[in-house]
Amino acid sequence: MSRLGPATTQEDLVSASSARPARPARPAAPAGSLRASQHRSDQLEAAITATPARFRVLTGDRPTGPLHVGHLFGSLLNRVRLQDLGASVSVLIADLQAITDRDAPRRLPADVLGLVADYLAAGLDPGRSVIFAHSQVPELNQLLLPFLSLVSVAEVGRNPTVRQEAAAAGGGAMSALMFSYPVHQAADILAVRAQVVPVGQDQLPHLELTRTIARRFNERYAPGEPYFPEPAALLSRAPLLLGLDGARKMGKSLGNSIPLGASADETARLIAAARTDAQRRISYDPAGRPGVSNLLLLASLCLRTSPQQVAEQVGDAGAGALKRLLTDAVNERLSGLRRRRAALAADPGYLRAVLADGNERAREIAARTLAGVRARMHTAY
Ligand code: TRP
Repeated sequence: MSRLGPATTQEDLVSASSARPARPARPAAPAGSLRASQHRSDQLEAAITATPARFRVLTGDRPTGPLHVGHLFGSLLNRVRLQDLGASVSVLIADLQAITDRDAPRRLPADVLGLVADYLAAGLDPGRSVIFAHSQVPELNQLLLPFLSLVSVAEVGRNPTVRQEAAAAGGGAMSALMFSYPVHQAADILAVRAQVVPVGQDQLPHLELTRTIARRFNERYAPGEPYFPEPAALLSRAPLLLGLDGARKMGKSLGNSIPLGASADETARLIAAARTDAQRRISYDPAGRPGVSNLLLLASLCLRTSPQQVAEQVGDAGAGALKRLLTDAVNERLSGLRRRRAALAADPGYLRAVLADGNERAREIAARTLAGVRARMHTAY
């Protein structure tokens, strides 16, 4: 596909970004540490800004429920920004990851089309970006067997998500699909030979394993001429939104979110029920007053100001006034997006057509990657 530029290696990234350093050089941090990832992310950001067309970006979402305002400010707007800069953006709907959750399959068709509507309403342009569903790109999954050969059971078992799931499932009850989850994710990323993966910190261990797989593939099958770029995380600078319970991270399936597709009245009801505290004077104090501070943060993101400024504005008027201000701010900020989303949701045929087109383009890309893999593995006959 013409939208795929030449592979960019890690060396390219470093030299491209050293021309325009994001910030002063820092002492080297150990590979795999948060500092090392943050440093790479900063370099990457500078390199993308300088030469966006050289970069292939891949992100993904599990279709486990409607996207919410946390997704909008944490990642959707960033994807749209990268698209608009001129990078090649692919967005994967990870339906085969969602089947690790037993209740999900029945709801998948609605959740998958809902994601497509959210993406388009937020500004992803199907003419420029590729939106596809994991299950519809068989070439992608054919990378899984070679990739499984490049990592040990012990390495996969050290992945924090896998460890958590193993603990939650009680020892031996975890599925082998769940166990190999980080390797699938490597296949998602490397199928489009992405160099850039915008994710949150929780995904860093998956990225580390993806880099290991890319490196080992290159060492074993493409010595001297690396085939896979070692992808790096582009860490979001957006602050983490808590849910309306003021306790946990805002989550698709936690019942504590404001879905992008919620109506203005639903939004008012959800915010009215948000947990706050009894202090009348509103102040921004995330540690001491998590509920109130989170509402201030969300209002500030909608109003493009600071949480402190919103706190000042509400002053002694109390949590009720803050909630009314927030409701207006969210409804105002989302009104255009919601109008577009409602029109899209009323036309599922169009959403399916967008997805079918994205699936086809993703298949072309993944098929080319697979052909490259076969040639290098000496399995092209
Ligand atoms: N695991 C990611 C999540 O839970 C979703 C995902 C699947 C993903 N494949 C990906 C993210 C590839 C980035 C790249 O949110």
